[in-house]
Amino acid sequence: MEQAKKLIDTLAREHTLTQDEYALLVSLYSPEIAEYAAGKADSLRREIYGNKVYIRGLIEIGNACRNNCYYCGIRRSNKACERYILTREEILACCEEGYNLGFRTFVLQSGEGCFTCSEICSLIKEIKAKYPDCAVTLSLGEFTRDEYAAMKAAGADRYLLRHETADREHYASLHPDMDFDSRMRCLSDLHSLGFQTGCGFMVGSPGQTVQTIAKDLKFIEEFQPEMCGIGPFIPHADTPFANEKAGSAALTVFLLSLIRLIKPDILLPATTALATVDPLGREKGILAGANVIMPNLSPVAVRKKYSLYDGKVCTGEESAQCLKCVETRMKSIGFEISYSRGDYKNGKI
Ligand code: SAM
Ligand code: FES
Repeated sequence: MEQAKKLIDTLAREHTLTQDEYALLVSLYSPEIAEYAAGKADSLRREIYGNKVYIRGLIEIGNACRNNCYYCGIRRSNKACERYILTREEILACCEEGYNLGFRTFVLQSGEGCFTCSEICSLIKEIKAKYPDCAVTLSLGEFTRDEYAAMKAAGADRYLLRHETADREHYASLHPDMDFDSRMRCLSDLHSLGFQTGCGFMVGSPGQTVQTIAKDLKFIEEFQPEMCGIGPFIPHADTPFANEKAGSAALTVFLLSLIRLIKPDILLPATTALATVDPLGREKGILAGANVIMPNLSPVAVRKKYSLYDGKVCTGEESAQCLKCVETRMKSIGFEISYSRGDYKNGKI
């Protein structure tokens, strides 16, 4: 306990540890240590973001995918997945509904290859013209540097591309036909093009070890992303990982605290996957240092089809209901929803 507390104190003060120290800290996990880390993370987050939680309207714009990630329910080989791609009109209708509800960030997410770069660019331009006070975040997978540059020029503000794991062999064991170097190239292009850039990983993905988590934490420390998405791995029945064990909510929450300590001003969501493995996941995530929630704005008719993992919560609710629910949950733990764009603060207010 003393050893872990010392490491947490150092991390809170200096925002860096060696990879071996990260591994040691993760291996020392216990509920008491996690509580200690959460206390430190909570106070660092409050110094910058107060008790405000940013919301992002997530629009799942298509579930077709050219990749075949072993863990993902929308992988191309899953013939049981009923595919859809939203039309421009449907996407704009989601934005309109979201705007009226108070959202000032729209996150467009899809499988890879649903849309061409030029389709994405026209969509961004249209959204930005209609809602100039809103941020557009993209989460559409890998593109060339030139394509990312075009999306930036069209007005996109942020890009989420989880690195999935910072360990090359582990990456290969999760992604049969994808390339670790290409993922890393994408992240570095996004960052250098000026996107607020998000990386991230699943907690408890098959093959993950304390060592690979330590690499993930070191990677986050070195890459200095503006955002980081982590959530537990959850098996999907129609994937090769159907019989694997789900990741732990408690470890996810502990890692959220460590990431907040690594980068106190980071935008850090309490994810839907966390809420899926633990009914109080969002609350626990926020209390441990997260400061973003991404309620679903997708048309209710397609929500069940965007099935990355089994049991996903919030697939039956209307967007307005989701927002109300999140608002009530946040109030219950003393936090307030901020209806601003919620940009990265880069240090202090
Ligand atoms: N295609 C884009 C990409 O590759 O970044 C965005 C969509 S992708 C489905 C979004 C994220 O969902 C992935 O980065 C992955 O970490 C997460 N995900 C996929 N399958 C999951 C599962 N079974 N459990 C938990 N998270 C999962
Ligand atoms: Fe589509 Fe993994 S199966 S991104």
